[in-house]
Amino acid sequence: MTTPQIRFNDGAGYERFMGVWSQSVGQQFLDWLALPSSLHWLDIGCGNGAFTGMIAERCAPAIIDGIDPSEDQLIYARQRTGLQAASFRQGDAMALPYSDDSVDVAVMPLVIFFVPDPAKGVAEMTRVVRSGGTVSAYAWDMEGGGFPYFSLQQTLRDLGQVVPSPPSPEASRLDVLQSLWSGAGLVDVQTHVITVQRTYADFDDYWATIQFGPSVGKLLKMLTPEQVVTLQESLRARLPSPAADGSITCTARANAVKARAH
Ligand SMILES: C[S@@+](CC[C@H](N)C(=O)[O-])C[C@H]1O[C@@H](n2cnc3c(N)ncnc32)[C@H](O)[C@@H]1O
Repeated sequence: MTTPQIRFNDGAGYERFMGVWSQSVGQQFLDWLALPSSLHWLDIGCGNGAFTGMIAERCAPAIIDGIDPSEDQLIYARQRTGLQAASFRQGDAMALPYSDDSVDVAVMPLVIFFVPDPAKGVAEMTRVVRSGGTVSAYAWDMEGGGFPYFSLQQTLRDLGQVVPSPPSPEASRLDVLQSLWSGAGLVDVQTHVITVQRTYADFDDYWATIQFGPSVGKLLKMLTPEQVVTLQESLRARLPSPAADGSITCTARANAVKARAH
């Protein structure tokens, strides 16, 4: 049986499923990056602009460019508050539509595990960033259980379902990020672990949110009513215990890397 691919084609759905997670981890990443204002940023795999919006809000950039293969996500990004001056276009991390030494900062937020050849993606970032500029990324720790919906995926697998997975999950490991960045000839390579939490109002909120998952949403819609009941029971048992008000707080972990272009 072949594993279905993950397609990002619903900007609003992504916002509900991942936007809160994405912005929590992005805030901590920007604190760690600690870059000055007036830089030219390139957000690779910008998707619906969840992280791009934070660059605009927090970094006083001179220029923001975003690229993503999904035009549907870019439509949402272009309409996001605060991003009217940013420019978005379709593109692939492995063939960046930018000339050599043309940007100050390249970042891949929650993207590298979707890139079929991660080393090529890092080589491309290194090519387009000027000497002394920053090449950076952060990724859910896919192999170490850091993905925010890891419990859901495991529960589905236990019930015999085939859960779509990205092409390069190993690229999210801290040691792999370190060696990808060093192998690209970047200097001062540093890594960092970011832990974040999100609280769902109750199990119904969690259940409604996961319907929008690009990886699991379609799968959930294909379950029989009996399978839904079994899944919900197993999921309740696996998720963190609800607080007195019924809310459920989940934890996720991302690995981050940054370095200077030579
Ligand atoms: C998990 S989303 C991250 C979106 C956004 N960066 C964020 O932080 O929320 C992954 C994004 O990577 C994009 N993507 C997938 N393959 C890509 C590739 N080869 N090059 C660039 N982006 C890619 C997807 O279209 C999607 O928008």
